[in-house]
Amino acid sequence: MENFKVYLAPMEGLADAPLRKILCARGCYDECFSEFIRVTDLVLPEKTLRRIVTESENGFKTDDGTPVRVQLLGDNAETLAKSAKMCERLGAKGIDMNFGCPSRFVHHAGSMLLREPSLMHDIVQALRDALDPNTLLSVKIRAGFSEKSELKGLIEAIAIEGVNEITVHCRTRSELYRPEALDWSILKDIHELAPNIDIVANGDIVDLESALKCKEATECTTLMCGRGAFMTPNLGAVIKNGAKPYDDQEILETVIAIMDEIISLKRPEKTIMDRAKQFLGYARLSHPNLLEFFKGFCRIKDADEGKKAVMDKLKEIA
Ligand SMILES: Cc1cc2nc3c(=O)[nH]c(=O)nc-3n(C[C@H](O)[C@H](O)[C@H](O)COP(=O)(O)O)c2cc1C
Repeated sequence: MENFKVYLAPMEGLADAPLRKILCARGCYDECFSEFIRVTDLVLPEKTLRRIVTESENGFKTDDGTPVRVQLLGDNAETLAKSAKMCERLGAKGIDMNFGCPSRFVHHAGSMLLREPSLMHDIVQALRDALDPNTLLSVKIRAGFSEKSELKGLIEAIAIEGVNEITVHCRTRSELYRPEALDWSILKDIHELAPNIDIVANGDIVDLESALKCKEATECTTLMCGRGAFMTPNLGAVIKNGAKPYDDQEILETVIAIMDEIISLKRPEKTIMDRAKQFLGYARLSHPNLLEFFKGFCRIKDADEGKKAVMDKLKEIA
């Protein structure tokens, strides 16, 4: 698909800085996002931003040059605006406001605020007022709190002048991740409500076929991929450039790259294996030949042993 943009979605606990580095180097994404960063009634400390978005040391770009947008989550318009300003001061080129997270650990924030469109409006307005006009501002929502019919009202609340993009995960909060609840077609009529804002389609875009269907259903020119990017690490290139999706061997090579990256950061043994297992847990969904290997890999605790198992499997299938 030409003239399309593909984003790597924000994914807390999954697409953190080491994984963004690995996936962006393979995925040809136009942009990626930090996991959500909570802003409380206190302004976000600079050191928290630097710790989570390590790409801040590199002009808010991954090593391969993919821009990283900072995502904030919270309910306090004033501290969110001041925190966004701090990110901008440190070099962030874009801020994304999270109104989509359905986690039960997130109380008065994320998708819980979908029930309060006027507060969403005030937060978005405060962010836009605080930021330089050249700093991109985007908002990420779900299609509603409990009904998709809420979407138009939500768009009207946040589509203020100066908002650049709105990403919609085409399920409501109540629908969580239920496969049958996804409905891309709800976005088709949204463009006219926000003619100057790029509407970004999100939800279950996992290969070229689903990307084409999503594009037709939504008439969006920017797509955001989350879990699909873990199933197929070169997904952006598959969608935009017709690249061949990674095969089993390339998936295993990616596991090694993930492990090496986390080892180089001197993270605990458990983290190394956990991240490799998380990745393979998604990748095996589109690589059924790796299912049995994945089951065995999940029982391994030691990173050296884990790496050896991946190497042996690579030799076996080479
Ligand atoms: C483990 C996990 C963590 C996520 N973390 C975030 C997050 O930090 N911020 C956010 O806006 N969305 C988050 N999401 C939602 C994704 O960005 C995306 O909207 C959702 O997974 C649907 O897209 P997909 O079908 O392409 O995965 C998360 C999803 C998952 C599965």
